[in-house]
Amino acid sequence: RDVDAPAAAHVRQDVSTVMVVGAGLMGSGIAQVAAQAGLDVVLVDDDVEALDRAAARIADSLARFVRSGSLTDDEASRARGLIVTETDLRAGGSSADLVIEAIVEKLEPKQRLFAELDAMCAPDVVLATNTSQFQIGRVAANCDRPDRVIGMHWSNPPQLMKLVELVVGPDTSSEAVAGAIRFLDGVDRRHVLCLKDVPGFISNRMSTALFMEGVRLVDEGIATAEDVDLVARLMFGHKMGPLETLDLAGLDTALLVSTALADFYGGDRFTPPDLLERHVAAGRTGRKSGSGFYEGLS
Ligand code: NAI
Repeated sequence: RDVDAPAAAHVRQDVSTVMVVGAGLMGSGIAQVAAQAGLDVVLVDDDVEALDRAAARIADSLARFVRSGSLTDDEASRARGLIVTETDLRAGGSSADLVIEAIVEKLEPKQRLFAELDAMCAPDVVLATNTSQFQIGRVAANCDRPDRVIGMHWSNPPQLMKLVELVVGPDTSSEAVAGAIRFLDGVDRRHVLCLKDVPGFISNRMSTALFMEGVRLVDEGIATAEDVDLVARLMFGHKMGPLETLDLAGLDTALLVSTALADFYGGDRFTPPDLLERHVAAGRTGRKSGSGFYEGLS
């Protein structure tokens, strides 16, 4: 080691209490995963109704696991009992061994939150962000511990999806990466490492390139939506084709993501085809509006 380089800051490796900030779709699922693995969870949201909805969503999901035979009644009630909901960040800030942020996808609120977390959490605690598009270095911009900030990009729904993408920021230390991996191992999740702090990480770069090419094939009159999806299902072995996936995820969201990636990377691979823009302009946003690439969606 370079003798002049500062010693790497110590990072807490054993997590028994995790604080999840943001109790929406993702935060509630992540809290549930941690509780099912036996960890104490403090789930924080500034909206008390969001906390109520999260508690109901978690109870419902645990009940489904019980019905399908993958959890016993006792395991489900134990998991429920490990989750405490709070509106005050300070309730979890002093006791958390790891923080996972899953608030709204807006940069400024995330930066503000990370500055607050930085001030209240013990110095050896890793702060993870579930952002789907911001670079980790930008989320950590107001922190004095950028080496202990990491991207931890879960897939929706977290309680069912087994793979999590870890994103290494420009300053993230190898100790912080090791801590995050140890946590994910403990909650029964596999991980992949995105080694550079790039927009789209690994998964959204791959999916957006495929999705946009699928839309282009339809837009250019080369194939029907059904046939594009059949190629993905029967030739590639995907569970769903790109166009039916876009209908499920929302064409408006896909347009935002592809536009952001196209702006950053240039070239054509992520550029949204006209057809995607026309559908969104016409309100055909997929399942949420009833139609998208397919009709009669519900
Ligand atoms: P959501 O809108 O369902 O939940 C966000 C929650 O954060 C809301 O309950 C809101 O009240 C709360 N919140 C906002 N600002 C807050 C603050 N300053 N302090 C405490 N709570 C605050 O959003 P969702 O879908 O759960 O997404 C959360 C994060 O996860 C976003 O960064 C999103 O990009 C990312 N993500 C979302 C995926 C998805 O499929 N929905 C997939 C992977 C990542």
